Amino acid sequence: MKNTQSDTPSIQHSARQVAIEVITNILLQQGSLSTQLARYQDDVASEHIPLLKELCFGVCRQYPKLNSIALHLLAHPFEEKDTDLYATLLLGLYQLTYMNTPDHAAVHETVEACRLLNKDWATKLMNAVLRRYQREADDIEAELESTPSVEYNQPKWLLKRFLKHWPEQFESIVDASNMHPPMCLRVNTQRVSRETYQAELQKLGIKTYLGEFSPSALYLEKAVRVTELPHFEAGFCSVQDEAAQLSAHILSPQIGEKVLDACAAPGGKTGHLLEKAERIDLTAVELESWRMEKIESNLERLGYQANLLCADANALDTWWDGEHFDKILLDVPCSATGVIRRNPDIKINRKPADINQLAAIQQDILANVWTTLKPGGHLLYATCSLMPEENEQQVQGFLEKHTDAEEVTLNTLSSADFELEWGVPVSHGRQLFPTLERHDGFYYCLLKKTVPINE
Ligand SMILES: C[S@@+](CC[C@H](N)C(=O)[O-])C[C@H]1O[C@@H](n2cnc3c(N)ncnc32)[C@H](O)[C@@H]1O
Repeated sequence: MKNTQSDTPSIQHSARQVAIEVITNILLQQGSLSTQLARYQDDVASEHIPLLKELCFGVCRQYPKLNSIALHLLAHPFEEKDTDLYATLLLGLYQLTYMNTPDHAAVHETVEACRLLNKDWATKLMNAVLRRYQREADDIEAELESTPSVEYNQPKWLLKRFLKHWPEQFESIVDASNMHPPMCLRVNTQRVSRETYQAELQKLGIKTYLGEFSPSALYLEKAVRVTELPHFEAGFCSVQDEAAQLSAHILSPQIGEKVLDACAAPGGKTGHLLEKAERIDLTAVELESWRMEKIESNLERLGYQANLLCADANALDTWWDGEHFDKILLDVPCSATGVIRRNPDIKINRKPADINQLAAIQQDILANVWTTLKPGGHLLYATCSLMPEENEQQVQGFLEKHTDAEEVTLNTLSSADFELEWGVPVSHGRQLFPTLERHDGFYYCLLKKTVPINE
């Protein structure tokens, strides 16, 4: 469906057709929801993008439930070559269960979608399955509701891990991970105070409430388009979760310091480091060239500059000039289990084996980047994960191997930047859990490189 020839005008498809393609690709593990949407959203008319997003985010968010219902309804699961039909069925069930689409329209469009996929043979089956669901929905749901993945609407393996690691927080983690996330702004306090910006928004009828922990955080009661935010293009604010905002506040870069943002794209935290102290010597390293462009456009909008390098942070000889950094932000690639509500495709894509694989990747990056930190310098290790393997266990392993590293206790109450204590202390660092109306799940640990005695 994707139009690859730039000189021919792109053909526009219905939001439902494109949603089938996006969900099919996600089911086939061909990329994340955000990359798929970025790739396909030009294929629908702009006024239909909200419907496309609602369908795709909705199916991912409700996937454990919808998947159980679909498997219950089908006598035989679809073969892999018919994953597009399975995606079509999930979208049909989503519309019947969660959207205002009249039932007859949802069934008709789902059946017609089989024809558009040139799979006319499946129309009868699709019609029968959806009609059965219409008749028996209550009974089917009652039968399935005691299955943990249906009751909690999360993959079983993830529920087990949440329960094992966080029995006390289990219910609230699940509840927060299933909801629509709040929209949170980071006010650029170099341009405007948070209170003044809040008053400007209020004048426009946009109601907000203050973040508790990050002094730059402002939550919107109702999400709006960024184009509705005053002076957005002039860099007065950015969209960023409150927990993510803590990075720059904790690292607290000072004028003249040489700072590294080692896994930088899309550059949310890169921009924030510069908002904290514009005159730092900031290097941002990112592996993926297409994600590099996002850092560029973010910094351009904010009006800041950094030394942007597209490189593997592990391959020091390709990007590092040998001059040590005073401070490093290391926001490593992770399972994103603290931000499932923003990336609900995790419910489909993420697999148990990913956790150890990611932990191994993080271990390498942490060890390599550590060598670029000067003695006496600080490295802030960050993830948006709730998995101890990626967080405190990772740090534990690192401290065992690196005698020149010591943990700096994140005693938030002693910092002027934070009014309240955030997250909970774990064996190393602090863990934030996702909350219903406020921040996402995040993990931070601050490490200091010790100065050799003879220096
Ligand atoms: C969690 S995201 C960073 C988010 C970013 N700090 C922000 O606040 O916008 C991790 C990033 O690390 C990048 N990455 C993964 N492996 C890397 C490596 N070996 N070297 C540099 N960047 C890497 C990924 O492409 C991804 O953009």
